[in-house]
Amino acid sequence: MTIRVTKAIFPVAGLGTRFLPATKSIPKEILTLIDRPLIQYAIDEARAAGIEEFIFVTSRGKSALEDYFDYSPELENSLRKKGRAGLLQMLKSTNMESGTIAYLRQHSALGLGHAVWCARRLIANEPFAVILPDDVIEARPPCLQQMVEAYAKTGGNMVATMEVPTEKTSNYGILDVGKDMGSLLSVKGMVEKPPIDEAPSNHAVIGRYILGPNIMKNLDSTDPGADEEMQLTDAIVKEIEVSNNVYGFRFRGQRFDCGSKAGFLQATVAFGLSRDDLRDEFEDYLDKAMAMQKVARRASGWG
Ligand code: UTP
Repeated sequence: MTIRVTKAIFPVAGLGTRFLPATKSIPKEILTLIDRPLIQYAIDEARAAGIEEFIFVTSRGKSALEDYFDYSPELENSLRKKGRAGLLQMLKSTNMESGTIAYLRQHSALGLGHAVWCARRLIANEPFAVILPDDVIEARPPCLQQMVEAYAKTGGNMVATMEVPTEKTSNYGILDVGKDMGSLLSVKGMVEKPPIDEAPSNHAVIGRYILGPNIMKNLDSTDPGADEEMQLTDAIVKEIEVSNNVYGFRFRGQRFDCGSKAGFLQATVAFGLSRDDLRDEFEDYLDKAMAMQKVARRASGWG
């Protein structure tokens, strides 16, 4: 029997401190990559993977997110009157049908595991996806769709993974890999942000998961771990110990860490260069900017 995954949790209750002061009043997930907020990329990816119910775990100060998915009748009327059919169509594609989207509050930022746990009653007894919108993944087919297809065969629990340089392992959840089966890895352990010399591999967990309902039960009894937060990693580790059914999935695609300033800039360049309407002008600018940068570096004796 094929296992269908129709619910996704979007934990968006973090403080976004790396983007202060912008995130003092704007949720990180509303920050714009070219002309779409990060959250729109995440929703599009979820829809492509067959997700039908979208659960947002939000916090104080995130009402802009709810407004973003609402209808905008004045704007739509105005575009209709002006005959701007293309823009109207694009605007409508961002609307979420009533009843498909739910917002829950995480009252304090107690960690990703806690944010996921906040959605336990809406998940009930089904597998579910978790998407961290600040991990933007450029992939065809989209990353979650690749995972859903693989999950239909494996069941259990699946985390997206990619290899990172050894010196970066302390920034991620890291897999202890059992068997390497190509795009799938069997996982025999997982550790959150290990010191570099204790990392069991350089297979890092990226912000896409498909998890079984047992994870919610494990979270019920998970105490705060690294950074005094309730770690999703710890609940997944319990599943490895009890059921040994956790897989790493090597997705085909490029991931940008839009939770960091450098990653956001890289995504902006990559997405700008991939857009037909922007490429020529942008490429031209980048060439000139790079040449000027080299001249300035030489003049100042940097390199
Ligand atoms: P991050 O580790 O990126 O934390 O969270 P953050 O607060 O968003 O950002 P910084 O580090 O302060 O800049 C990873 C994901 O988990 C969610 C975040 O919203 C983000 O999608 N999260 C984290 C929660 O929903 N609740 C939490 O308590 C912590």
